[in-house]
Formats: sequence, structure tokens, C-alpha cells
Amino acid sequence: MIALQIICLLLLGIVCVAVLIVSIIFAYLTVSAGFMHTSPAVPSHGKVKKAIIDEASSILKNTSYQQTVMDLGSGWGTLLLPLAKEFPNHKFVGIECGFLPYWVSVWRSRKLKNLVFLRQDFFDTDISDTDLIFVFLLTSTMAKLTAKIKNEMKKESLVIANRFPMKDTEPHKEVSLGSKYYTYYVYKN
Ligand SMILES: C[S@@+](CC[C@H](N)C(=O)[O-])C[C@H]1O[C@@H](n2cnc3c(N)ncnc32)[C@H](O)[C@@H]1O
Repeated sequence: MIALQIICLLLLGIVCVAVLIVSIIFAYLTVSAGFMHTSPAVPSHGKVKKAIIDEASSILKNTSYQQTVMDLGSGWGTLLLPLAKEFPNHKFVGIECGFLPYWVSVWRSRKLKNLVFLRQDFFDTDISDTDLIFVFLLTSTMAKLTAKIKNEMKKESLVIANRFPMKDTEPHKEVSLGSKYYTYYVYKN
């Protein structure tokens, strides 16, 4: 009977610690985004994540010369990590301002020579040499970023935007996987 009570107490303790950890992560994501007036570090997920990776894979597969792929606000490295593993001959750069997502990405990419993460503001980043850019950012950030992309990216370069489209710009392709939450846009500069 005592053993059963101890097991129950242990289980309760584990559940409390798990709830605490999840709450801390959630608070970090919400508060840091609020302070910085920027998009929270919510990763691309589910079927749209898979579809974006597939879209990028088919572009990279059909290109013989080295491509530079950048994720502006790369979060936890969700999109770049699998692509960098699949395409060792292409170059991948993640730009992330958040302390925790940046360091987690650096750790996760430690064995990949073709993937680098930079902790900086993407508005101060040179994107003129980039062939393909990923963005998953709030509408207000997209509005500001659209001008930078149009002014700085080279001709024929591509942008894949998860959920939030570029401002006043007709996409080359719009893919909806059931709802606006599962939609991505491809733009050609
Ligand atoms: C919604 S997450 C997207 C993560 C990743 N691109 C993905 O699709 O999984 C947006 C990320 O952009 C970062 N971010 C927002 N504004 C930024 C800025 N000006 N410079 C660098 N990173 C920024 C946030 O810290 C956050 O991690």
C-alpha cells in the first residue's frame, strides 16, 4: 500500500515538472515575442511543414549549381536542418534573433558543414546573394520585409512564405492544404 502511494506521488511529481517545463517554454515564447514586438518562435509544423520542405527539395534537386537558402527568422532550425542533411552541396543560412532558438539550432546543426545559424536581425542581413528564402512571420513584419526582399534579392530568386503572404504581391503559386492556417505562397522576384 505504501509502495503504491509512493508510486502515485512520484507520478504526480513527474506530471507537475512536465507542466512546469511546458509553461516556462510557452511563457518564454510569448513574452520574448511581446518584448521584441516580433513573431514568436513557433515552428512550421504538420502538413504545411512537410509540403514546404518537399517544395524546396524539388527546387534544389533540379539545380546543378550551388544554391544559397536562407530562413529569415529560422526559429529552432525546423526547415533548414532536414534540407541541409538532404542537400550537402547547397548552402543553408538561418537568421535568428532569439537567444534560445538560436542556441538550440546551433547545437542541432553541429555536424552539418553546409548549415550556419547567425544570431542577428534579418533587417540588417545581406540577402542579395540568396536564391531561396523561407519566411514564417506575422503580417506586420511581412509588410516591412516585402520592401527589403523586392529591393535586395536578385532576379529569379524565390521566396516561400508560410501562412502570411508578402504585402501587395501576387504569388507565383499559392498552395492551400485545407485552410488559411495551412497555406503557403511561392514568390518569384
Ligand atoms: C514563427 S517563427 C518561424 C521559425 C521557422 N522559420 C519555421 O518556419 O519553423 C519566427 C522566428 O522569427 C524570429 N524573428 C522575428 N523577427 C526577427 C528579426 N527581425 N530578426 C531575426 N529573427 C527574427 C523569431 O525569433 C522567431 O523565432
